[in-house]
Amino acid sequence: MITSRTPIEIPWKTGKVAVLADLHHDSYNKIGREPFESHALDRSLQWAELDALIIAGDLADAPFSNWPAAFAYLRRFMAPSQTIIFPGNHDYYAACLNADVEMEKLADAAGVHFAQQRELRHGNDRYFCTTLWKNFSMLGDAQVAMNVAHRHMNDYAQISKRLETGPLSPSELLGHPLQVAITPEDIQALHKAQRRWLEDQLAEPHWAPNGRSFVVTHHGPHPDAAGQIDDLTPAFHSDLTSLFDEHRIDGWYFGHSHRRLAAQVGSTAVRNVSVGFPFEKHGPEELPLEELCLVLAPGPSRRNSTVE
Ligand SMILES: [Fe+2]
Repeated sequence: MITSRTPIEIPWKTGKVAVLADLHHDSYNKIGREPFESHALDRSLQWAELDALIIAGDLADAPFSNWPAAFAYLRRFMAPSQTIIFPGNHDYYAACLNADVEMEKLADAAGVHFAQQRELRHGNDRYFCTTLWKNFSMLGDAQVAMNVAHRHMNDYAQISKRLETGPLSPSELLGHPLQVAITPEDIQALHKAQRRWLEDQLAEPHWAPNGRSFVVTHHGPHPDAAGQIDDLTPAFHSDLTSLFDEHRIDGWYFGHSHRRLAAQVGSTAVRNVSVGFPFEKHGPEELPLEELCLVLAPGPSRRNSTVE
């Protein structure tokens, strides 16, 4: 369980923040390529003008092996003190679902901020960050969706959870597994807990008059930003319409499905900001990532914003 709950303050320089997800740095590294260069983001983003880079999960599989190389790569573009990360599902591969504390230490060691269930503050903007997972209910029957996900997603073979046991005697320890594979029910429960945290945060009055509120998650929040829907879609997105109805949210950034789509849900601009795997095909309906990922803050020295 993460205990450091103080908001992360992003110093104001230009008012520009980039939110990107799903770099999958290890997949590029294996074949001698690099994520930003492969998608021309090294040239299309004005890196020196950014106040912060937020990575909304899936930086790399097997974080305890692969995050250090990914952090070294990110350092070529952004100072670690301006880089903020929280895990996606892939960041738990070869790790435990309850390894956030250890992941935070790994980020700390690289000087990078870790923002699982954490608020960021920048000018008059607040950002609430969490993996969020999914409720499996988008198409109605959560049990059916959980069965489909269990059959088809690698998460259930790649991610484990540590069992909370009391002290065990040596003989008990011998026959007692200390960690087991996760189940869709574990994921559903975690979604519920992270959604509760998010709703509690959104219900708090904004600390700035006319301040804006953004949400950054790994998983998708609404079918309108999901693209083509099939049996596996509930493993990638939830339908959080009631949450959108109840809270003022100026923008919602996410990744996971790797489809660079945008949708307007009530007053909220919802955007998928996935970089995605090498060689992944992006359809003609997808939007330019360098435009989707930018948040321009209408602060003291302000001009227009990409999200109104
Ligand atoms: Fe991903």
